[in-house]
Amino acid sequence: MQKTFEPPRLDLLSGQPGNPHARRTGASRALISEIAGVPVRELTERYGSPLFVYDEAELKRNLFRWKQAFETLYQPVRFAWSYKTCYLRGICQCFHEEGSLAEVVSEMEYHKARKSGVPGKNIILNGPHKSQILLREALKEGAILHIDHFDEVDDVLAIADESDHKLKVGIRVNMDAGIQPVWSRFGFNFENGEAQQALTQLLRHPHIQLSGVHCHIGTYILDPQAYALMTQKLLTLAYWAEDRFDQRIEHLDLGGGFPSPARLKGIYHSPEVYLPPPSEYAEAIVNSLQANLRPGHLPQLLLESGRALVDSAGWLLSSVLARKVMPDGRDLVVMDAGVNVLYTATWYEIQASLTQKHEGEFHSTQLVGPLCMNIDVLHPEWMLPALERGEILCIPNVGAYNVTQSMQFIVTRPAVVLLREDGSEDLIRRAETLSDVEMGEG
Ligand SMILES: Cc1ncc(COP(=O)(O)O)c(C=O)c1O
Repeated sequence: MQKTFEPPRLDLLSGQPGNPHARRTGASRALISEIAGVPVRELTERYGSPLFVYDEAELKRNLFRWKQAFETLYQPVRFAWSYKTCYLRGICQCFHEEGSLAEVVSEMEYHKARKSGVPGKNIILNGPHKSQILLREALKEGAILHIDHFDEVDDVLAIADESDHKLKVGIRVNMDAGIQPVWSRFGFNFENGEAQQALTQLLRHPHIQLSGVHCHIGTYILDPQAYALMTQKLLTLAYWAEDRFDQRIEHLDLGGGFPSPARLKGIYHSPEVYLPPPSEYAEAIVNSLQANLRPGHLPQLLLESGRALVDSAGWLLSSVLARKVMPDGRDLVVMDAGVNVLYTATWYEIQASLTQKHEGEFHSTQLVGPLCMNIDVLHPEWMLPALERGEILCIPNVGAYNVTQSMQFIVTRPAVVLLREDGSEDLIRRAETLSDVEMGEG
């Protein structure tokens, strides 16, 4: 029997669970009505909206979890708080109280750490720009210095010429550890011999002593084996220098880069599924140390973890300003916080959670901020019920990079409150006003 012709049909893939090819539209049914036991509504009533909220207990739990994973396998190990991740004094102090060093990458950050009482010897100074004045100051104060480029080698050699004692310096190295793209713009390349060349120039000087080697292969690194390879390559370099200049490194700094539970754009599975636990990173690194360290050599292992320690300890509370239906029928909600305060919305898929219960249907909704700019989109299609005006949404996992990278643009920046372990609340940065914006104007 002859079949009737059926024309081919294209069906749009839906975002239903189980369909890994569909574009996810998110499902924000999880309710976050309180943070560390404090109702979110009370927080915005006390400190205004939008509002960044940090939880000291969560921050310290994260540090403890990562420290413990390493300390049970290797000693000595020291964490250094990466200031750029969030350098509010209240946050830095939580880490310093727990023994973290400060990892800074500029003169401003160096002075911020010193002003908070961190001694020079507890500061790691990285970064591509260090003035001669800063280099002199840091070397005098005994900071752990990682030289970034050959011009800086020249600067350090000039300081060594004038010195009557040995100056301890380290170098930053970049390499292919299997992570793409290779962050090759910082430090000296391992594979092409640049790192050996830098060490040769430095260590020929009678007043230079090699303190250690450093590498930061990138951020949100999901493959623990990349750290194993980095460890192996850094030790190969360190022993190459030891054999030629009879100098043994005191520290091995593996940078930061451990991932946080914030959800990366473009990955279908949720972070709970794809995130390796701290123990996998610790095992990969320590196995590589055991395989590559020379007998009797136990350099201090330095880790400059940023986002893995603080992302899950920070939330952004934001209120609904307005609701609209677009000409194409899509729902749109205008929030009082936009991309000016949520820089990480560029690479994370933000998970705006409801803070109060809703009955009824959820619709794909475009979630936007208050800026008069088309780019101010927090989520292009987030599943939301019909929200009330003034209702608060809570965005979790925003503790890293947002406060430091947020900007005064069209609006001022919000307050930041730290919920203490003892139940008290510290306003660690007040909300800005017009005078903050005009500060410094003639
Ligand atoms: C040198 C250095 N160390 C540490 C960090 C912290 O990185 P992460 O937040 O990925 O742990 C950075 C971030 O860029 C960095 O440049």
